[in-house]
Amino acid sequence: MTDLDYYAGLPGPSPPEHLLRAAVDVLDRAYSPYSTVQVGVAVATGSGEVHVGANIENASYSATICAERVALTSAVVAEGQPLTQPTIVVVGRPDLGFSPCGICRQVISELAPDATVFYVFDHEWQASSVPELLPHGFSL
Ligand code: THU
Repeated sequence: MTDLDYYAGLPGPSPPEHLLRAAVDVLDRAYSPYSTVQVGVAVATGSGEVHVGANIENASYSATICAERVALTSAVVAEGQPLTQPTIVVVGRPDLGFSPCGICRQVISELAPDATVFYVFDHEWQASSVPELLPHGFSL
């Protein structure tokens, strides 16, 4: 079974198929020699463009950039702010699923506050709004 088949077959609210495919396709671009964990993200906007990201690690571990932040910053550079109608799909190792980390939730809340975020938790698709991902988030 391919990763795509695995993700497409999970229960819960499924992400749009072309975004799931884009997120799975970019898993191979992860640079993760330290954790060996691969994370892939696809971000779609109202423009019809799809932007992707994978996690990029560093020997100075805290310099690691998560896949969500690679994809979102790339979307902002390509399209400018605000991103319209953002949909974000996150995939990781099938045995782990992948739920966006706290820092990524904060970044999503600023760059894509209207996003719907699809991710796998407990072998089930979740589709969350930003307030669901980060209640009472920090802002200036
Ligand atoms: N990682 C992500 O890409 N996204 C997250 O939301 C959490 C963690 C990456 C960072 C690191 O390369 C690997 O997963 C293990 O923590």
